[in-house]
Amino acid sequence: MKQVTVLAPAKLNLTLDVLGLESNGYHSLDMIMQTIDLYEQITLRKSRGLSLRLPNSRVPANDSNTAIKAALAFFHYTGLLAGVDIEIRKTVPVRAGMAGGSADAAGVLVGLNALYEAHLSMSELCALGAKIGADVPFALLGGTARVEGVGDLMKALPPCPDCVFVVCMPAAGISTPKAFARYDQIGSNIHPDGAAAERAIRAEDLQALAKEMKNALEESSESCHNAPIREILDKNGALASLMTGSGAAVFGVFDSMEQAEQAAAQLKQSYPQVYIQKPCKGGARVLHSPKRQTEIYL
Ligand code: C5P
Repeated sequence: MKQVTVLAPAKLNLTLDVLGLESNGYHSLDMIMQTIDLYEQITLRKSRGLSLRLPNSRVPANDSNTAIKAALAFFHYTGLLAGVDIEIRKTVPVRAGMAGGSADAAGVLVGLNALYEAHLSMSELCALGAKIGADVPFALLGGTARVEGVGDLMKALPPCPDCVFVVCMPAAGISTPKAFARYDQIGSNIHPDGAAAERAIRAEDLQALAKEMKNALEESSESCHNAPIREILDKNGALASLMTGSGAAVFGVFDSMEQAEQAAAQLKQSYPQVYIQKPCKGGARVLHSPKRQTEIYL
């Protein structure tokens, strides 16, 4: 095998609570995370060197890129004297709180594992990923999960109840370290009940889950777009609307595709990036058969 293609999904935070500050400056969190069917498409080709291309994206292809960090971590850990040419077709908005950079790292780890038949286990991949970014272990696992610690303690949950997400990304993104620094100054009155949200998922009760969907980083978010986006989502029948991660994307959850489409159409009048997405069940995965690739992209 000379080449593999990987699909690596974006995530939304169905809940996000900040529990405290660790001695290393990271925050301990309690989150319910959900992958959605919006994917980075990552192609890896065997090579003697290491290169990264991001066609049509302004994300820098340098050593700070999570994809390069993931490749270096993989080769260092396995001891393989080899390289890879990476091409990432980015579709996940940047600085959105949707873990696009983590998805890229997860995709590179999964892809290299397949390309070089290294047979690293999921826990080995997660340990490598955790050093690259807090959300990388979840980007590997995917589906619906309760994620605690600094992002490293994951519990897979049953799939979240069937629903439609309308995700709206304003023109300006948000820096995650800055968002957490503002939280440290301002704090929050919003603290979702992760256990209640988990119970609602286990009971397959979308209405009860929607009631628990809150984000503790939202009050300290300086984005002026949260309120107007949420207003449009709510007016069009969203069961819940909230910011994902540290922002800047805001999403609504709907039980009706018709209402979701109405909300999306209205949001598109003011915002450049609006997506209608379904929950997806997995994390970063190799596309094995060209037939399956055709089904997804044509
Ligand atoms: O690990 P990652 O690079 O995704 O994190 C970006 C930044 O977000 C960190 O440098 C840190 O400031 C903040 N962060 C945090 N607590 C977490 C995750 C991220 O404070 N659990």
